[in-house]
Amino acid sequence: MRLPRFSRLLAVAALASSALAASVPAREFELEDRASGTKYVFAHFIVGFVASYLQADWTADMQLAQAIGIDGFALDIGKDPYNAAQLGYAYAAAEALGFKVFLSFDFTYWNSSDTSTIASYISTYGPLPAQFTYNGDVFVSTFSGDGFDWAAVAAESKALYACPNYQASSFSTSSGVSCFLSWNAWSSSDNKPVDASMTTAGDVDYINTLGSDAYMMPISPWFFTHYGPGSYNKNWIFYADYQWTSRWEAALSLAPQFLEILTWNDFSESHYIGPLHPNKPSVYAGNTSTGAVEWVTGMPHDAWRDVAAVYIAAYKAGASAPTVKTEELVYYYRPNPKDATCSDSVAQPTGYDYDGDSIFVIAMTTSAGTVVINSGGVSTYIDVPAGITNVSAPMTVGVQSFSLTRDSGATVVMSGTSDLQVSSSCTVYNFNAYVGSVTA
Ligand SMILES: *[C@@H]1O[C@H](CO)[C@@H](O)[C@H](O)[C@H]1NC(C)=O
Ligand SMILES: *[C@@H]1O[C@H](CO)[C@@H](O)[C@H](O)[C@H]1NC(C)=O
Ligand SMILES: *[C@@H]1O[C@H](CO)[C@@H](O)[C@H](O)[C@H]1NC(C)=O
Repeated sequence: MRLPRFSRLLAVAALASSALAASVPAREFELEDRASGTKYVFAHFIVGFVASYLQADWTADMQLAQAIGIDGFALDIGKDPYNAAQLGYAYAAAEALGFKVFLSFDFTYWNSSDTSTIASYISTYGPLPAQFTYNGDVFVSTFSGDGFDWAAVAAESKALYACPNYQASSFSTSSGVSCFLSWNAWSSSDNKPVDASMTTAGDVDYINTLGSDAYMMPISPWFFTHYGPGSYNKNWIFYADYQWTSRWEAALSLAPQFLEILTWNDFSESHYIGPLHPNKPSVYAGNTSTGAVEWVTGMPHDAWRDVAAVYIAAYKAGASAPTVKTEELVYYYRPNPKDATCSDSVAQPTGYDYDGDSIFVIAMTTSAGTVVINSGGVSTYIDVPAGITNVSAPMTVGVQSFSLTRDSGATVVMSGTSDLQVSSSCTVYNFNAYVGSVTA
């Protein structure tokens, strides 16, 4: 049985601690560093969690991704016995939709002895119509795997455009690599939560190190995982209260060649933007229906995709700001105040006290207006300009309602009430986000 991303996070810890040791960027990011040419957006898809997918499941997910301008899925694979079946479905579903996919070898499972096996995957899948190619070469990526020799794989298979997830400091010693993906997508130090928002220092370090080579920038909305000592002992939240908009704003200003959304379906760490699967809870964390199912059930993130859609259009157009065409309020919040006492055998996640007890709204407006957040009967009024603005109000237990008004409240443009009330009584320390939206 495949494990949830337990060992993956140990690898992230190693990445993060060496990232800290990396030298200070030699120069500041300059506007001319913005990449030119067609830009692409991908989402990281963990194949290891979808042993039970049918081709129709792939099609449904890909259609949702395509609808917001995502070009393809990075198919994260370990050495699961169902790789062939699932990759077959994925490539076939993508081909039928005109969607793209590429392999992302997860080096939690692969290593430097696997050159020939990896080359044989490239030979099998690289020629398929749905394979994403760049400059005519087969695009391939990884999770981790610093030092792996991609030139050796290309020699055994096909010409590659390798964009692995290596640390910036591995650049000078890498072979056969055209681009780097960063996994530094959350506010952390040594893979531990910190009481601060994510910055772009890591991105700028990669961009400066890569020079004229391409950067694939990670964008993630959230991170919460809650496995107790008896299972995987992986229990923390990275502060991300305003991260979804701030990472997209950073993507517009840095304008790298590629973006990779982390992730489409890693339910185990709560950073999914793909749909829930109430009839297939096994996909929440590998071949098991325990664990992530506790903090994912009933916690949709779909409306976050509506925000991504507007930013993706701006990113691809080379714009410095998003253009909102359809007004919408996307809201998100945790189900309980952070100091609630839950009847949970697993303690609060590390970093929980950094979170604001807030109700968050990403307002997407075509002209200035007032966002009204009514949290548990207490209203907060926040004026917003045209465009995308993230705002918040204090969290109060009870019903959560939202509206957008104009003309000093005389015009109610849209209003709605969330299906999830905030409650101080709970059975799980659930620091996942509940995401919904209000439209006209
Ligand atoms: C899932 O786990 C069950 C029980 O251990 C096992 O019988 C089944 O083969 C597994 N399925 C997959 C796709 O790994
Ligand atoms: C690579 O992984 C295999 C198991 O899949 C293991 O037997 C081998 O020792 C590993 N090689 C290296 C160089 O780590
Ligand atoms: C989001 O909110 C944060 C915190 O108030 C603020 O610093 C940031 O500028 C906001 N971003 C947008 C796009 O509204």
